[in-house]
Formats: sequence, C-alpha cells, structure tokens
Amino acid sequence: MIIPALHERQHQRGYLTRSDLVEIAQECNVPLYRVNEVVSFFPHFRTSPPPKVVVDVCRDMACHLRGSVPMVEQLSAWAKNQFGDHVEVRGVSCLGRCDRAPAAMINEKLYACVNGRRIEDAVLAGINDRKTP
Ligand code: FES
Repeated sequence: MIIPALHERQHQRGYLTRSDLVEIAQECNVPLYRVNEVVSFFPHFRTSPPPKVVVDVCRDMACHLRGSVPMVEQLSAWAKNQFGDHVEVRGVSCLGRCDRAPAAMINEKLYACVNGRRIEDAVLAGINDRKTP
C-alpha cells in the first residue's frame, strides 16, 4: 500500500513533501520511519523538485553488457556541460526491457535499444517541451 500511495502523490507535483509522507503513514497505518525507508530505498522517489529532464539508464546485466555503464558516464558529462542542473542522468536497476537492451527512461517515457545519440535527442526534446507552458 505504501508504494502505490507514494507513486500517486509524487505524480501530482513531481516530488513528495514531508506532509505527503506523514499522510501516507497515517493512511497506511504504519510508522513514519517505514515510509521514509521506502522513499530512501527507491531512487525513483524524490523529496525535492525534479530537474526539467530526468534520464534513467538501466545498468543491470543485459544493459550493462550492451554498454550502458559508459553511456551513463558520457551522458552525465554531456548533460552537465550542456544544461547544468536542468538535466539529471542516473544509472538505475532493470527497467523491464532486457530483451531490447540497453533501456532508458526519460521523463517517465521508456526507450529501448538506446544509444547516446538517441538519448541526447530525447533530452533536447524534453528540454524544449518543458520551456512551453
Ligand atoms: Fe536493463 Fe532489464 S537489464 S532493462
């Protein structure tokens, strides 16, 4: 019950506030520290506003074997150079597309068979999407 509640709240504004966590603890009838444990365990959950574009690149075995780890390093350097703190690149666990590795998620949209160029294009599209209200 905790995880779906966290997903629902985070979906509303992009991150979780302390009052969200307190309310979820009450709704789920668990101590607040249990909710905090879940939030701190899963990198998906945020307790501060997200950057304009979030890139999650899978680093687990199938994707690792297809070059995802150096891809994360190269994309991180590129994104930092191009956009500063407006783009965050993270290595994450399996995204469920091992059959089409490497996989990435960019602003909650799943991409399969990615390469650095394809992710850069998606990041640029994400930056441009977020500029218009
Ligand atoms: Fe990368 Fe499963 S190992 S999507």
